[in-house]
Parts: sequence; C-alpha cells; structure tokens
Amino acid sequence: MSDSFDSYVRSARLYFESAGKRPSAYVHTYGCQQNVSDGEKLKGILAAMGYEFTSDTADADLILLNTCAVRENAEDKVFGNVGALKKLKEHNRSLIIAVGGCMTQQRHIADKLRASFPLVDIIFGTNAARELPRLIYEKLTQNTGGTYLDGGEEISEDIPVLREDKIKAYVPIMYGCNNFCTYCIVPYVRKRERSRLPKAVYDEVKELIADGYKEIMLLGQNVNSYGKEHGVSFAALLKMLDDIDGEYKLTFMTSHPKDCTHELIDTIADSRHIEHHIHLPVQCGSDRILKAMNRNYTVESYTALAEYAKARIPDLSLTTDIIVGFPGETYEDFSKTLELMKKIRFDMAYTFIYSRREGTKAALLPDPVSDKEKGAWMRELLEVQGEIGLQNYQRYIGGTFEVLCSGRDKNKPEYLTGHSRQSIITRFTGPDDCIGKFVKVKITGAMPWAVEGELIQ
Ligand code: 5AD
Ligand code: SF4
Repeated sequence: MSDSFDSYVRSARLYFESAGKRPSAYVHTYGCQQNVSDGEKLKGILAAMGYEFTSDTADADLILLNTCAVRENAEDKVFGNVGALKKLKEHNRSLIIAVGGCMTQQRHIADKLRASFPLVDIIFGTNAARELPRLIYEKLTQNTGGTYLDGGEEISEDIPVLREDKIKAYVPIMYGCNNFCTYCIVPYVRKRERSRLPKAVYDEVKELIADGYKEIMLLGQNVNSYGKEHGVSFAALLKMLDDIDGEYKLTFMTSHPKDCTHELIDTIADSRHIEHHIHLPVQCGSDRILKAMNRNYTVESYTALAEYAKARIPDLSLTTDIIVGFPGETYEDFSKTLELMKKIRFDMAYTFIYSRREGTKAALLPDPVSDKEKGAWMRELLEVQGEIGLQNYQRYIGGTFEVLCSGRDKNKPEYLTGHSRQSIITRFTGPDDCIGKFVKVKITGAMPWAVEGELIQ
C-alpha cells in the first residue's frame, strides 16, 4: 500500500479505537459485475479502517453508494435514493454520505450532486479507491467533505478485498475500455484499457481455488483484448488458469465479437474447467446500425463466429446483449435484429432500450423514433426471444446437468438453484448440503429463462 493510503487507513482505525465505538457502514453497489468487484474493494478498505457492515441505513455511520452510469434509469435510481437519505441525515448530523463510481466520475453529475444534494459529503470517481481513507478521515476530523475524480489509471494490486460470496469469486483481469462504441459511456468513466500482470491474476486465482472457491469469474469490459501490453493473449491466460488442479469452474465477462478469436473458442472447447458459455453482445442485426455504433464487425462475420463456436462446442450456450432504438434505427433495421435472433437462436438476450448518454457520439445524433414505438419493438423482441429460449432449453429435458449449487431460490425457497456447465440456471429440490458443491441434476422441465430437474443422488 502507498504510504499515504496506508497511513490514512491506520489513522482512521486509531480514531475509531480511541472513540471506543466500532463504526458501521452501509455499502450499496449498483450495476455490473465490475462494479460489484469494485464494491468488494471499497468494503475491504472500510474493513481495514475499522468499519463493520450493516444492511440497514438507519444503523449506519457511513452510507456509501457505488454507482452505475450505463443507462439513464440507473442514474435516476441513485438520485432518488440519495434524496431519500435526507431524513436520516437530519436525525444524525454525524452520518457521512459518500457517492462514488461510474456515475460520479462524470463531471456534470458530480456538479449536479454537489449543487442539489448538500447532504452528500464525499464524491469520488472510478479510480479513487486509494483516496477514500483520506476523504473519510478528513471528514471525520476536520468536517471537510471532498470531491475526488482524478485517480490515475495505474493498477493497484494491494487493495484489500472483502468478498461478498463464499462460492463465486470475481477477479478483474483488466480495467477500462478502448472501443468507444458510440452509445457507451464506459470508456469515458473507466478510462483506457489496461491489464493486470498474468502472474498477479494467476496467483490470485490459485489462492482462491485453494481457499475453496468453486467459481472464478474473470472480469473486464472486453476480456478478449486482455494482455496486449504483456504479450499474453486472453486465450493464453485461460490456458494457464485451466491448468490449475482442483474442482472449480472458470467463467468470464465480457467478450467483444471483433476480438473473439478461434484460438479462444478452441481453448474453451479443449479445457477442463472453462464454462461452455460465451456471452457475446451483438447489440443489433443491421450492418448500417452496427457501423453507426462503431462495433467493427458485420452480421456476416458475427454469424460465422457464432457458427464456429457452436460447431466446436456442441453444448455451448450463447447469450447476447441487444440495444433497441439506437438513434436513426428504423423498423427495417430492427427487423434485421429479429432475423438474426431467429438465425443464431441465443439461449438468452439481455435487452435494453437505447439510453442517451451525455458526452458520447451517439448523443449528438437525431433520434426521431418515439419511446412508445421503441417500447413496442422491445416487446416484439422479447416475445421472439422468449420462444427461442424456451425451445432451446426444452432440448435438455431428459439429459443431465452438472450444476454448481449456489443456494436457495430467493423467490421459491423450496428449490435449490445454481448454474450448469453451460451457465444455464437450473433449479431442483434437495438438501442444504448441496450448496457450494457440484451436483448432478436430471432435467425434467424448461422455462424461457431456466430449467428444472431432480437431484441425482
Ligand atoms: N443504452 C442502452 N444500452 C446500453 N448498453 C451500453 N450502453 C447503453 C446505452 N447507452 C448496453 C449494451 C452493453 C450492456 C452492458 O449495456 O448492450 O453490452
Ligand atoms: Fe462500452 Fe463498447 Fe467498451 Fe463494451 S466494448 S464497455 S459497449 S465501449
């Protein structure tokens, strides 16, 4: 740890010890797995400073919101939640409120928060974790709230991590993105692409497996371009990790189709531990719109890649992301997306209505199609995909899945739930001691989003 990071962590610890009270923090993370992983680091730092954690904002001495900026509704939710903290702050003047992450990294949002929500004490950006102990310590001792958005792009290997889960561990392998898809805010808030050293990733994964973690999820905005500065490809990194002995599976998020190589697909096909699942966001089925999105592939090249992957990995599950209603998209463009869905037959699609992000190139384009019309397109897409997903999953009835059981189903606790080797959600009945283990399940039924079955003893 850097001297100043280390010394502020220590000073905060001493401050709380001398006050004779263990402070309590409420931390909430919005958005993607990368954010969850950042949140685990923020919690690791707070724990090192002496905080314990609460799930009730009313008990907290510190409320920290780790935000997402990918779509406008994510930001609206945060503004709403910050506003709702006003009463708590009125009752407890010493409550510290900190808001950080992708949303606050945008200067106009940080300014809006400062101007409209004086109850927020600390505002920090995506690369500011090392500054958090100082910002909190200064607020505690000098009552000076701060804004810090200037963190550099260097990778810190020494930040403590407090993992949320005992079965699945998130391991970021790279940060940032260089792709500048024209709709996307991520390259602006997470800055340029940089990869962790292969040895740092290898050592962490090895330790996690030795600690008993059963799923290691490698994270990056575009994992396929991992390691350019180290001369080690993502496929080569996966091979190194796959060689580690043990009972675990390797998963990863997210692949960009333009960088997804046959070498990577072959590596998955020939591996012992890598999940037979590729999440390969296509975004749209119209070449004209793909070009306007700056995606750098065509429907033809994407289809060829998907076909190669399906041929090479017969039980592959292919999933995707779709944006509906990009500026200038017509119904004719959209109908090409429907055609593509019917051709590729994804197991699952995460679908989003285009959200204008200030500062991106697409935000400058005319966007004449109404929200109502885009909503109707979305419903059509969901109907088509729901039917395809169900038919795909019905093919598995009568077969057997190896499932990593993650716990009880939140909505139907009479079921256990987990993901298969293809990452298909599988629910089944069985005893609690399945949790955290790989178990065999005979598939008896299918839904559009999951399958169900019976535990094979
Ligand atoms: N509007 C709608 N969806 C978006 N995504 C990223 N930016 C936007 C936006 N401005 C979607 C893409 C991406 C996923 C993580 O979020 O589909 O793959
Ligand atoms: Fe955004 Fe495109 Fe980078 Fe993904 S690859 S984070 S969609 S800019």
